[in-house]
Amino acid sequence: MLVTLEGIDGAGKTTLYKGLKEKLTDLRPLFTREPGSPYIGDAVRHAISKNSDPLVEAALFVADHAVHLATVVRPALEAKKLIISDRYTDSRYAYQQISLKGVHPDPKAWLAAVHEGWSIVPDMTFLLLISPEAAMSRVSDRGGKEHFEKAEFLAEVQKNYLELVAENPSRFVLIDATQKPETILDFVEKSIRERNAK
Ligand code: TYD
Repeated sequence: MLVTLEGIDGAGKTTLYKGLKEKLTDLRPLFTREPGSPYIGDAVRHAISKNSDPLVEAALFVADHAVHLATVVRPALEAKKLIISDRYTDSRYAYQQISLKGVHPDPKAWLAAVHEGWSIVPDMTFLLLISPEAAMSRVSDRGGKEHFEKAEFLAEVQKNYLELVAENPSRFVLIDATQKPETILDFVEKSIRERNAK
């Protein structure tokens, strides 16, 4: 089963991810993330930090996904493992739809076409929702300077996520990310266990 965690920067994904790592050890899940695949992950980080060409960045995110699928996700699914990924394809729909505006006439169609036929859709996606201002204040506490981390941008990213929810209502579980981290963790842990037992 493939579970993904999504949300704007500062929504608390990393805290949730770390918490799940501690709580779900008995299920022996495979914890993974995007971006961060072998050999492409570094190129992606380089592109993000240099605020490079949007098309280069998008192509690298897709390449990272392809390597992630080939080397991590597909083999683990074949071995019937539980996989938990911190970010996945929805991140591209949420973020690259914005960065590719003006670069491609229809970024969403491009994203759909580029994943078509080989990518794998998650079984369950937890989306952490928070106001961009609250997310920003959390992120600025961390001193993050990446160009993604701007409030107006994050508002648009979240809007794109909500559009994906409207299009795929059965896959998404929405989480109010202003709740206490323990409350969020307990709920997500329980939801994963229930689904995994089916
Ligand atoms: P990451 O360092 O994992 O940030 P976070 O801790 O917020 O998850 O990801 C770096 C940035 O890359 C993040 O702002 C989201 C963005 N991103 C995309 O734009 N497209 C993608 O396909 C992915 C996976 C991430």
